Amino acid sequence: MEFGAPMLAVSALGAIAVAMALPALKTRLELSLAKHRSLTGHVRMARRIAALIPFYEYDEAHFFRCDDPPEEIAACRRAGFMRLADLYAKRFARTLACTQEVAEDISDLQFTGAYRVPFQFSGLVRRHLRAGAFVVSSSGVTITDLDDNQLYDLTGSYGVNVLGYDVYKDCMERGLERMHALGPVLGAYHPVIGYNVKRLKEISGLDEVSFHMSGTEAVMQAVRLARYHTGRSHLVRFCGAYHGWWGDVAPGIGNPMPAHETYTLAEMSEATLRVVRTRRDIACVLVNPLQGLHPNAGAPADSGLIDSARTAHFNRAAYTDWLKRLRAVCTERNIVLIFDEVFVGFRIAAGGAQEYFGVAADLVTYGKTLGGGLPIGVVCGRKALMKRFRDDRPADVCFARGTFNSHPLVMAAMHEFLERLETPAARALYRDLDATWNRRVEHLNQRLQEEGLPVKVANLSSIWTVCYTQPARYNWMLQYYLRAEGLALSWVGTGRLIFSLNYTDAECEAVADRFVAAARAMQQDGWWWSAPATTNKSIRRRILREIIAHRWSLARDQEKAS
Ligand SMILES: Cc1ncc(COP(=O)(O)O)c(C=O)c1O
Repeated sequence: MEFGAPMLAVSALGAIAVAMALPALKTRLELSLAKHRSLTGHVRMARRIAALIPFYEYDEAHFFRCDDPPEEIAACRRAGFMRLADLYAKRFARTLACTQEVAEDISDLQFTGAYRVPFQFSGLVRRHLRAGAFVVSSSGVTITDLDDNQLYDLTGSYGVNVLGYDVYKDCMERGLERMHALGPVLGAYHPVIGYNVKRLKEISGLDEVSFHMSGTEAVMQAVRLARYHTGRSHLVRFCGAYHGWWGDVAPGIGNPMPAHETYTLAEMSEATLRVVRTRRDIACVLVNPLQGLHPNAGAPADSGLIDSARTAHFNRAAYTDWLKRLRAVCTERNIVLIFDEVFVGFRIAAGGAQEYFGVAADLVTYGKTLGGGLPIGVVCGRKALMKRFRDDRPADVCFARGTFNSHPLVMAAMHEFLERLETPAARALYRDLDATWNRRVEHLNQRLQEEGLPVKVANLSSIWTVCYTQPARYNWMLQYYLRAEGLALSWVGTGRLIFSLNYTDAECEAVADRFVAAARAMQQDGWWWSAPATTNKSIRRRILREIIAHRWSLARDQEKAS
């Protein structure tokens, strides 16, 4: 009985502790609910799981039979593969030889070479269907390799090529002429910068501009400014969105360190709005409007094309509505809304995503095409957010410099580019932009459907993603058939095709002809055969079993060796 009072006190203390912990638990739960349910939405878990996946590859016999096809289908695939290998060896001989000479010495080339297709297939593909890394010229909408093959360019140079390569060649050449007298003098500005700043302010509708060397750096600076001015620590990025390779905006797979001050939340989600509205540590929300094409999914690359689950569909009205609601919550909570327009700026509208969606951001980052063919990153922002020092606390600064910021040659090429944007010819490119590109995509899709080919293209304006309409293991082969038809793709293969706006209807039709021919050849070679009961889920389950078996045998080997 004498323990009664202390017991009561302990219980009361316990109740108080629980009551005190409840709000924290509630906020934690809300945060969990705002994560996208996919692995992409759970970056730490994704990293842990990725570390468990062992390397294994299919031997030559299994390579063509991983979905248990009839023998004649496997033979057909093999014949198609070897025919392509022969064609590549002959048609791209010099380009491949040159690539091979440097491949061992260029780390980037080794990486992109290894990640063109799912790793189980990578060995044989790399031995027989090597991708050449060299080109020597560009003209119109084509590029030419060392073997004099002229290919339609669907790489878009990672999105830099908006107006057509000839425009950038001109910008670079005239920029060089203009800067001939000044050369590489840094720190001081050449007068061309005045026009650039004036135009960027007009285009962004914002007060100030800062120049950087890449999109990654522009994003770093935008986030740093948001943290500096709000005094808060965390940035919100959306599941799957790419903002360059700086650690804080690229948590999870690909980043050796965890990003402790980043929330990766689901896009187009009520739960996310709740978190943004209630948490007190959020400095900024980063939006990459390209995600409108595939909300909450990572950049589609063929190395991840293990089945046909890739989906994409751009719903302009729904995404606009989302951005408007996000804008309202950020305004309400004094959170800095950053539009990362490094990719879509100047591509989806002359005034970029802000104009396209009718939503104003507090900070906007630009890059890629804005450099007129040269490396660039730009931040535009409201005056109060762009300031890097405090009048009342002189030692409290937000430092951001960079040797090559505002390089005269880049400023001059940018000047040319921005002038070009004002010409009637450039303005005409933006007229009916969506209607033009949607019509082209619909036309191609109709042709694919009429021929019974299991391929469908989704687009956000001139940015296309190829999707596959029936469960299959070999969709990634399409990139090699496309190349054989004279279409140049970047290392992510059919995940992203980027067109420059100067593509004419006739040129798009030529691309469509080749696209359909490639898909037809691939179908004839048996790659899209699948057993009637196959589903994307059954494919993934089978791959999971393979992974577990390899992990198991790895563990057994290690045990024996120790
Ligand atoms: C939306 C976005 N932000 C940032 C970056 C990084 O730009 P950069 O490659 O110039 O560093 C990219 C690059 O693709 C991008 O698409």
